[in-house]
Amino acid sequence: MGFAMKLYEQVAHNLRERIELGYYHTGDKLPSVRALSQEHGVSISTAQEAFGLLIDDGVIEARPKSGYYVLQQQAPPTLPETSRPTPQPLAVSQGHNLLHLMNEYGAEKMTQLSLALPDLSTPTLNPLIKITAELSRTMTARILSYDFIRGADELRREVARLAIDSGCRIHPDEVIVTTGCQEALSSSLRAVTEPGDIVVVDSPSFFGSLQAIEMNGVKALEIPTHPETGISLEALELALDQWPVKACLLTPTNNNPLGYSMPDEHKPKLLELLAKYDLPLIEDDIYGDLSYTLPRPRTIKSFDTDGRVILCSSFSKTLAAGLRVGWVAPGRYIDKVMMMKYVSSMSTATLNQLAIAEFVAQGYYEKHLRKMRKNYRRDRDAVIGWLKRYMPQDTRISYPQGGYLIWVELPCDLDSIELNQRAYEHRIRIAPGTLFSASGKYKNFMRINSSNSQEPEVEAAIITLGRLCHEMIEERSLPVA
Ligand SMILES: Cc1ncc(COP(=O)(O)O)c(C=O)c1O
Repeated sequence: MGFAMKLYEQVAHNLRERIELGYYHTGDKLPSVRALSQEHGVSISTAQEAFGLLIDDGVIEARPKSGYYVLQQQAPPTLPETSRPTPQPLAVSQGHNLLHLMNEYGAEKMTQLSLALPDLSTPTLNPLIKITAELSRTMTARILSYDFIRGADELRREVARLAIDSGCRIHPDEVIVTTGCQEALSSSLRAVTEPGDIVVVDSPSFFGSLQAIEMNGVKALEIPTHPETGISLEALELALDQWPVKACLLTPTNNNPLGYSMPDEHKPKLLELLAKYDLPLIEDDIYGDLSYTLPRPRTIKSFDTDGRVILCSSFSKTLAAGLRVGWVAPGRYIDKVMMMKYVSSMSTATLNQLAIAEFVAQGYYEKHLRKMRKNYRRDRDAVIGWLKRYMPQDTRISYPQGGYLIWVELPCDLDSIELNQRAYEHRIRIAPGTLFSASGKYKNFMRINSSNSQEPEVEAAIITLGRLCHEMIEERSLPVA
């Protein structure tokens, strides 16, 4: 399966590496377009495109009549350590906490740092609103009727085309449209497991997949996970040796909540291991298109040669969650997944599928992504900067390379459920770490959303969170009356 960087991407990649390695510092002038083209033996326009890419990525700026200069980069924070979850399969136990958190969303005006929502205020979404309005004005019988279980062909074609960016060659007939990625995940799980089975997951792990595991009567076996590279393949191998695992479920790119992206060289090794035990992989790629740099990381599916990877995604994080349009490419499990999708919701609402298909086909999706990647990187840097400034010393922070979720380890073993309760009085919501583990681990962690960093209340909220943490630490050191 061929997948190569385009020439300008290669040139940009080399230049970025030199900046990261310290050959060029903040404020340094970079070589001219001509010098870069000569050095790499590429055309002037390729060199210009490479600079354009680095500008889009927020790495450099162009100063009129002067040249290209390196921008200040946020120094990476101190990361949390590799997780050490309970080394045995567990029934998931966090459902009640989760429903409480989700149900109260929207009830009051809050600074919502808890939910993984994209920035909905961007003008690059306007064409989608326009297309949806036009479609609904001409409500055809097709829109008002059931769609195929597999979804609208127009959208399946666009999904297959977009998948090429992640190195994947999928035929539109291999794609099933779902009602969000959540339905893709739960249908896939039901297709490959039975009650009592064990599924391995990264740890911490997205609470929606943990709940889907719970609702299917399956147990989760959490694998130690590194905040930059993802699950430990050694730990996975040991777990597969020891337990009768039936499937693996991972979010390997711009992971929620930890932010890791699995390096490409791990992916064939993972597949080898899964082939040895003949296991399917459910790959959740919902944040994959939001990688800050191009080309985006390859999906594990793009390395799959025997159809064992079930690739799940949606437009909820890239466009808008309320549209409820997702998809799954189930490989060799297509018939079973199709059946599970049918019993889950019959078909997905047609209007939103057609609107997204048109939005993608007209090139608006690419334009939107180009802008959002840059914005979300800016947001990550802003929020990490505030966390470093306002949270107590020894707070550890993830450093995602895409998306808008930040995983924070509180110092002194502070309890994030208590922090959430105190924050509620200030109309602030965070996602407590316990939701991201089958057994309620990660009590001293929280996940926050950085996508709205431009709103002044976000910095104010982080100032408040920092103050509350300091207070909690001080209260501990007071003598008990
Ligand atoms: C990793 C991950 N997968 C799946 C979902 C669910 O996506 P959707 O809203 O498309 O159902 C989410 C939503 O937060 C998520 O973060």
